[in-house]
Amino acid sequence: MLESLRDGWIGLRNRLAAEPRFQSFAARFPLTRPFARREAAGLFDLVAGFAYTQILLSVVELGLLEHLQREPLDLPTIAARTGLPVESADILVKAACTLGLLQKLSNDRYTLGLKGASLLGNASVMDLIRHHKLLYRDLLEPVKLLKDPTQPTELSQFWAYARSAAPDALGDGIVSPYSKLMATTQALVADEILDSYDVSQHQTLLDMGGGHGAFAIAAAQRAPNLKLHLFDLPAVAAEAAKRFAANGLSDRTTTFGGSFHDDDPPAGADLITLVRVLYDHPDEAARVILGRARNALAPGGTLLIGEPVAELPGAERMGHPYFGLYLLAMKGGRIRTTTELASLCREAGFATATPLKTNRPLMTGIVLARA
Ligand SMILES: C[S@@+](CC[C@H](N)C(=O)[O-])C[C@H]1O[C@@H](n2cnc3c(N)ncnc32)[C@H](O)[C@@H]1O
Repeated sequence: MLESLRDGWIGLRNRLAAEPRFQSFAARFPLTRPFARREAAGLFDLVAGFAYTQILLSVVELGLLEHLQREPLDLPTIAARTGLPVESADILVKAACTLGLLQKLSNDRYTLGLKGASLLGNASVMDLIRHHKLLYRDLLEPVKLLKDPTQPTELSQFWAYARSAAPDALGDGIVSPYSKLMATTQALVADEILDSYDVSQHQTLLDMGGGHGAFAIAAAQRAPNLKLHLFDLPAVAAEAAKRFAANGLSDRTTTFGGSFHDDDPPAGADLITLVRVLYDHPDEAARVILGRARNALAPGGTLLIGEPVAELPGAERMGHPYFGLYLLAMKGGRIRTTTELASLCREAGFATATPLKTNRPLMTGIVLARA
């Protein structure tokens, strides 16, 4: 009953919103004016989003934030330091000021805006912005990609395991670029997971698809008695071993090379983590990975899945709009809701699987499962 009332209201609202006379009335009438303005601004953001993100990329690539962190600068100096003609620097600086990346001071000098200052403190996001050049090249003709998702993309080359029949044979030169990106962006994820779930209640953590070990190292810092196992493709696991050694963790870490499509990970951990792993894979492969995790868990152990999810309250735009397209270009993966992840866990033989509330739902949803 309530649902059909809601559907009826949506139909009426849309007929009114599409009506030019109603639009101009809503923009003038005091009670609807704020709503009409907010909607118009939101619609413009969707129309112009690509231009905004290219301004952001230019600011990051030109090192403008770093230049202005050192000292406020006037336009001719900005042009000289970035190698831009003064006219182009003027366009970029004014656009970046409008978007809150930069801010104008007295005496015609420019400094960081609040968004620019926050970005500078966040190396992970800066790396992601640079990485987006690949994504945007793949999305140049989005309808073509939607109609034919099998066409070649740069992202599927970058994430080489996504299209490889023998991922465990991939060499360091191929796995290193994506593993480095994962290691630097791990900071966005590790704190969110480790603030929401206390890993120190466990004896041994096995991080499946653990990359260069950034998450395991963060977990080790939170839980001084925790033993750590990491399982990843051989070339990736070998690099993780070096990073564990460099962080003084060799005595409580062990790395294992293999492919979770074909090989069982080491058994016996009472906590297994799958961080940003399942969303790279279609359901069938995800069930295999989950099945291997369940078999490897110690009796009574816990599986923790932490990754970007769809329809996460407060982070909805990260889900279907961003990762939906990202994974389409990468090929093979799928963004899921926490409910879908929990269903996959139960299909793979876990007795219970429930979403865990996170403190700051920015990039990561969490599901806990027990065998
Ligand atoms: C998106 S990355 C996430 C890495 C890390 N967990 C993180 O969050 O930074 C996915 C990881 O899964 C690993 N991986 C992909 N296919 C694999 C396979 N068949 N067997 C084992 N690991 C695999 C990749 O090498 C990579 O380290």
